Amino acid sequence: MFSFIKTPLFGYLLLASTLLTALPADSKPVKNIVLVHGAYADGSSWSRVIPILQAAGHNVTAVQQPLSSIPDDVAKTNAALEQIEGPIVLVGHSFGGSVITEASYNNPKISALVYVAAFAPDFNQSALDMMLKYPLPPVATSLVTDSQGRQTILKDKFVQYFCPDVKSICKVLATAQGPSDQGRYIYKSGQPGWKQHPNYYVVAGNDHIINPQLEADTAVRIKAVKTIKVAGSSHAVLVSHPQVVADIIMEAANAKK
Ligand SMILES: *[C@@H]1O[C@H](CO)[C@@H](O)[C@H](O)[C@H]1NC(C)=O
Ligand SMILES: *[C@@H]1O[C@H](CO)[C@@H](O)[C@H](O)[C@H]1NC(C)=O
Repeated sequence: MFSFIKTPLFGYLLLASTLLTALPADSKPVKNIVLVHGAYADGSSWSRVIPILQAAGHNVTAVQQPLSSIPDDVAKTNAALEQIEGPIVLVGHSFGGSVITEASYNNPKISALVYVAAFAPDFNQSALDMMLKYPLPPVATSLVTDSQGRQTILKDKFVQYFCPDVKSICKVLATAQGPSDQGRYIYKSGQPGWKQHPNYYVVAGNDHIINPQLEADTAVRIKAVKTIKVAGSSHAVLVSHPQVVADIIMEAANAKK
């Protein structure tokens, strides 16, 4: 049948085409997933979620935020999005939710947004506007400000409030936390992309950084197509329950817009 193959080059071509056709015709297209970390954190917040997404064949990018202001974080996220083909699932943890809210606005490459214990402000609304509707988190009195005006959380308080359910990793996160600007709390958001895209939400049931009721109410307000409440989870739900978080991201990636 392949008697016309006379040279090694043709042999290689045949081999290549055999490998290509060997792929199952119904294999899901690889989706691009962009992960946006929050304040007092860095891209490695996603280190337990990333391998699960990659093992499923997704092209994953974790943005490394400057944390100098929400607009700076949005610009950094947009720079990452520009390099990546759509469709893209854009995921934000904590203040990363404020970032994906703006970065996704009028971006046709975004196929879904996933909020993980995250803020999803409305137009002209700040994180503080949302927080003041609930009891303030105890960690608010445990912030230290450096000479550049950037804040971190006292290490022992970080372990107590941010990720008490994964203590040993939490000590590492407390040590490597990204110093963040204070202005992000009062920054009034621009137009929200969550009005344009399907949204998914993960509520951390025992969150001492963002009130779990604020999270649950946010999921309702943005009309999330799916909300998962992880009972007992700290704010670091992406570290303490990576499979749950990866599963909802993959569900968003596999959904038709
Ligand atoms: C995968 O992501 C990288 C950035 O991490 C990007 O450069 C590349 O273009 C992406 N691949 C596709 C097919 O979009
Ligand atoms: C934003 O909200 C404030 C009240 O909180 C209001 O005074 C202001 O006009 C609003 N700005 C815009 C652009 O809607």
